[in-house]
Amino acid sequence: MRLLGIESSADDTSIAVLEIDQSVTPNTFRVLSHLISSQIELHRQYGGIFPAMAKREHARNILPLLKETMSKIPTTNTTPGSIDETYLKTTLSHEQELHETLIEFLSNQPIPQIDAICVTTGPGLEPTLWVGINVAKVLAHAWKVPIVPVNHMEGHLLSPLLSKEHSDYKKSYPLQDLQLPTLALLISGGHTELVLTKQIGDYTVIGQTRDDAVGEAFDKVARLMNLPYPGGPEISKLAEQARSQDTIGDAKFPRPMIHSDDYDFSFSGLKTAVRYFLQAKDEVTEELKKDISREFEDAVAEVLISKTSRAIDEFGIQTLLVGGGVANNKYLQEQLTKLCDQKGITLHLPQKEVTTDNALMITLAGYFSYLENNKGANPEEIRANGNLAL
Ligand code: KG4
Ligand code: ZN
Repeated sequence: MRLLGIESSADDTSIAVLEIDQSVTPNTFRVLSHLISSQIELHRQYGGIFPAMAKREHARNILPLLKETMSKIPTTNTTPGSIDETYLKTTLSHEQELHETLIEFLSNQPIPQIDAICVTTGPGLEPTLWVGINVAKVLAHAWKVPIVPVNHMEGHLLSPLLSKEHSDYKKSYPLQDLQLPTLALLISGGHTELVLTKQIGDYTVIGQTRDDAVGEAFDKVARLMNLPYPGGPEISKLAEQARSQDTIGDAKFPRPMIHSDDYDFSFSGLKTAVRYFLQAKDEVTEELKKDISREFEDAVAEVLISKTSRAIDEFGIQTLLVGGGVANNKYLQEQLTKLCDQKGITLHLPQKEVTTDNALMITLAGYFSYLENNKGANPEEIRANGNLAL
């Protein structure tokens, strides 16, 4: 089957088309199109994401992405979808700027051969989520296909199943195999969670952060050192440089909650420790930044590895999945690889293309959810939920 997916939960607008062949075991997938329009340059100026500004950008970017996507998938014939003016007007009442452009798009676009439309409904920023949801509703209505609501975190969780270099649109690749139950470590700008997965679709969050998410901590610590947003890649670069040098500075930070007998995390104290450490220094040199980055990354990795390791043992895990923007972190990847080698279990890291927010992982999660009940949701009941839980 062929699915179209839309993601707009934060600062990336993304649309993907994924084809899954269910007739073979394991199922294979082919990426027909995957486009991401990032707002990072805009938000970098402000050091973070402003929802109203982000919403406006999504509304601006989504149609061009949609048009480009259409050029990559087959259409049934030359008939455009049906346009119900009243439906369009009510659905887009908060998306005025999209009204005209969507009508124009739909009236020129032959109905594409897709079986369902998947869309992120949360967690994330509600104003931006609504842009994706409303566009998905209008398309589903015009093309008479079901609409599948997707939890953004389920997308991150399943993203490592998209193995290999799937950007070659002509080729099919097998979906990665999972030994259940599996454990997922989700580390992004908004979340830090350990999720026990008994089946795809059956998730138990066994631990999560009590304050800052790990990516958020990277971003905040970077800001303390006047490094650009997003801070994760910057800190990672400096930490790597520090490790390749012989000298080690005097930065020493706590490993918050490392000995607590639960699977929860806390990263805000770590950020405060960095702030105090910086305040006590007369001058913030490049060397100092490198040393802080190294020690901060060590502290984060140690805590994540320690809790993940304990959960692997307790639940008899054979496959570890890692998802989210922070999964990009090289040092953490090395530590996770070491951990899984020691335990003799399989580690699935996501391809770089699907670590940060993207519609491909949303489409994959939508596929599994669609399989479960073989139908989509009632469009009337689809709503943005900023705090949607797994
Ligand atoms: O998953 P994501 O794109 O967005 C959310 O859903 O939150 O994650 C973005 C986060 C940012 O906080 C960014 O600093 C972090 O991922 N990040 C990294 C690295 N690359 C991105 N953190 C540490 N090391 C990296 N290499
Ligand atoms: Zn995300």
